[in-house]
Amino acid sequence: MAKVKTTFFCQNCGTQFSKWQGQCTACKEWNTIVEELVQKPEKSDWKTPTTASKRAAVPLLVSEIDTSKEPRLNTFDGELNRVLGGGIVPGSLTLLGGEPGIGKSTLLLQVSLGLPYKTLYVSGEESQKQIKMRAERVNPNNSNCYILTETKTQNIFKQIEALEPDIVIIDSIQTLHSDYIESSSGSISQIKECTTELIKFAKETATPVLLIGHITKDGNIAGPKILEHMVDTVLQFEGDRNHVFRILRAHKNRFGSTNELGIYEMQGSGLREVSNPSEILISKKDEELSGNAIAATLEGMRPLMIEVQALVSTAVYGTPQRSATGFNAKRLNMLLAVLEKRAGFRLGAKDVFLNITGGITVDDPAIDLAVVASILSSNEDVSIPKDYCFAAEVGLSGEIRPVQRVEQRILEAEKLGFATIFVSKYNKISLQNTAIKIQLISKMEDLVDFLV
Ligand code: TYD
Ligand code: MG
Repeated sequence: MAKVKTTFFCQNCGTQFSKWQGQCTACKEWNTIVEELVQKPEKSDWKTPTTASKRAAVPLLVSEIDTSKEPRLNTFDGELNRVLGGGIVPGSLTLLGGEPGIGKSTLLLQVSLGLPYKTLYVSGEESQKQIKMRAERVNPNNSNCYILTETKTQNIFKQIEALEPDIVIIDSIQTLHSDYIESSSGSISQIKECTTELIKFAKETATPVLLIGHITKDGNIAGPKILEHMVDTVLQFEGDRNHVFRILRAHKNRFGSTNELGIYEMQGSGLREVSNPSEILISKKDEELSGNAIAATLEGMRPLMIEVQALVSTAVYGTPQRSATGFNAKRLNMLLAVLEKRAGFRLGAKDVFLNITGGITVDDPAIDLAVVASILSSNEDVSIPKDYCFAAEVGLSGEIRPVQRVEQRILEAEKLGFATIFVSKYNKISLQNTAIKIQLISKMEDLVDFLV
């Protein structure tokens, strides 16, 4: 019998240790290190056809590499095609992550049902009957999609060999388990092993595989970070579960840009593509209210439009109150001082409340201008047109400072249907013919002139 090998893994970040310890030295989390049984596979599961395994790779000149034989598979979903960079690349692994109940299973089932190719939808979470019930709501007339409820990779590969599907969908990677690893499904070593097996299968047969992945409570994909390195594309499906809109973004894409985003609306009969994104904004609020401003921020690599709300009122008690939710209170005080000193607004005797809607906390300094605009708007009781947005840092002398990757923010704002974006004059912008008006400002007074 093979010797049983165990290793310790941090369940938060996936770092491997040779012995147990209380704190993970990589991510500094406490009590996340768990012992997992690992048994090295003696032979791998996805057996290569003998002809293919004999073929060793040879170096080729870039100009000699032929890509014309690799057409992308059309998913018949405009938004998904765009986010993927024009369709699914044969032999690629795509990972779709998102909050529970956001609609990951619905999206991929809908895509599988809409495809004219032979599709295999493997579910480890729902029974065939449950999936059939959902399929009937989403797309009742389809004859190319096979449903399999299985969690063991060895059995999945057996079915794949028999069926020879053109595309494989796995819901979800955390429910899979391989016989070669003894730890339970969803553990770091299982996820690693199952993904490795799937990658091997995808690359050798040029069959694209789409995986659904769970996320942890802080929004990262559950399992080892290496999972995101192993796959070709990482998509994130996000949105507020209480709202009907869902946003699909690419976090990583080896075959396209990560600037694209897809917007869907959840309906009774599945997800509908939203081709006109400004629908979202119009449906959100009908009237313009004072104290609201939209910031074009970046969260990590992703552009994100965030609404900032301010309320400025006369202080009832001696010391005025300053309160900020989702924004650094010290920074708020600094911006108030700048407004007082450089733009002549007497805010010293006023209560100021600031809120970043959606429960998000923002560190990006580009939100400064929207914070200042919302305070001005509330103080003067004039509303800011709802198709205006802001992206700039505010300096101590009241100067409007440039921010990083401003073009990405401008493109996001344009995509979301904004008419005007306020940015610093000192930002270098080479975009031309944008549908959005780029308003360059250099000092606080310029902003006051526009808004008040
Ligand atoms: P689901 O796709 O199972 O989410 P996930 O796989 O990400 O956990 O379901 C998402 C939610 O969408 C579910 O709570 C019910 C809702 N829904 C609809 O509103 N309309 C539909 O047609 C379907 C299939 C689901
Ligand atoms: Mg699901």
